[in-house]
Amino acid sequence: MEGMGLSIKKLYLELTNKCNLNCRICYRQSWSEVLMDMEEDVLTKIYEDIQTIDISEIVFGGIGEPTYSKNIKKALRLFEQYDITLTTNGTIIDNELKELIAKNVKTLVVSIDGLNKAYEEIRGYDLNKVLRNINDIIEAKKNLINSNLSLVIEFVATKNNIDEIFNVADLSASLGAQQLIVSNIIPQTEEYKDSILYHEDYDNKMKELFNKLRIYSFKKGIDLILPKYKITTERYCPFIESNSIVLGVDGNIYPCYRFSHELNEYILGRHKKIYKYSFGNIKNTSLLDLVNSKQYQSFKNTIYSNRYPSCFDCDFLDGCNIPETNDYDCYLLSPSCSDCLWSRRIAICP
Ligand SMILES: C[S@@+](CC[C@H](N)C(=O)[O-])C[C@H]1O[C@@H](n2cnc3c(N)ncnc32)[C@H](O)[C@@H]1O
Ligand code: SF4
Ligand code: SF4
Ligand code: SF4
Repeated sequence: MEGMGLSIKKLYLELTNKCNLNCRICYRQSWSEVLMDMEEDVLTKIYEDIQTIDISEIVFGGIGEPTYSKNIKKALRLFEQYDITLTTNGTIIDNELKELIAKNVKTLVVSIDGLNKAYEEIRGYDLNKVLRNINDIIEAKKNLINSNLSLVIEFVATKNNIDEIFNVADLSASLGAQQLIVSNIIPQTEEYKDSILYHEDYDNKMKELFNKLRIYSFKKGIDLILPKYKITTERYCPFIESNSIVLGVDGNIYPCYRFSHELNEYILGRHKKIYKYSFGNIKNTSLLDLVNSKQYQSFKNTIYSNRYPSCFDCDFLDGCNIPETNDYDCYLLSPSCSDCLWSRRIAICP
């Protein structure tokens, strides 16, 4: 980690929490939030705030569809001096946006969780339309001398679609994708709570599958990022360790995606209520003041140095009701990260 303190290198920016799709796997399935786009003055304010901070990467992501935001084009232009990552379902990209992506985006992450029927079952959309959009963007890139766009495919794995992974590796190679990121699902609904591929025990089948996939992807020239399939004690918060922060659609600053929305998680079948936890709103204070606040610094130090409990390693887990929410834990830390699946590399985000 590049030192603690003032350093914020990566800003996740949620342009909208709306979406044109309603994927069965999605975090949004357990929501009852007000749907909105980020206000333009919030966008302008955060742009001004980061001029004094050494941020290098902006990720247009969050839990919604960035290309569904009315501000997507404005945002891609406003932040063009940064390394931009855009995570998208790839479904609603008009010609102007295609050109803009080819010109201003460094990493285009498109979610593809299977081919044809498998894709349609999860996303309720025709994959061929997404592929046409991706190909158009790649064509637009060819006409630009300075485009440094690279394509990444993201696959969310469950028991139901894991058989599709080799097809998606083939597709990634044929699209010229540089990377294939495989994440596990964090179930939000009863429907998916038993469809997970990770356990607390060693799983020889998953080991064999992932080894096969590693060799397959290597031969295809794809950089493969795999999640863990066994829950281990080792923890590494992907947000804190990469000096990242999340600006939610509401202007609130969150430490990570997990605490940026009210969600229902099923962790190894156990229900958990996740409440939002923000360190302040960008409208009332500067990003620098927020990240330098005692409260955020203390949270960051605690997570970075792993001084928080680990429910998976605890003999009391079966009888303990504290992990029913993320409110606090048995060290009286609030909010609690004690059974986070992101820090255990079960879920991965770009
Ligand atoms: C929330 S989406 C936002 C960007 C865009 N709408 C998309 O679908 O790519 C970001 C990523 O999270 C993944 N995702 C959604 N729900 C998930 C869940 N319950 N567990 C793990 N990943 C999930 C999506 O498949 C996508 O790759
Ligand atoms: S496209 Fe993305 S944000 Fe929209 S429902 Fe699907 S996974 Fe969720
Ligand atoms: S909940 Fe997980 S991802 Fe969020 S700050 Fe805690 S360890 Fe990191
Ligand atoms: S919160 Fe409960 S289950 Fe988690 S570590 Fe503490 S005592 Fe154990």
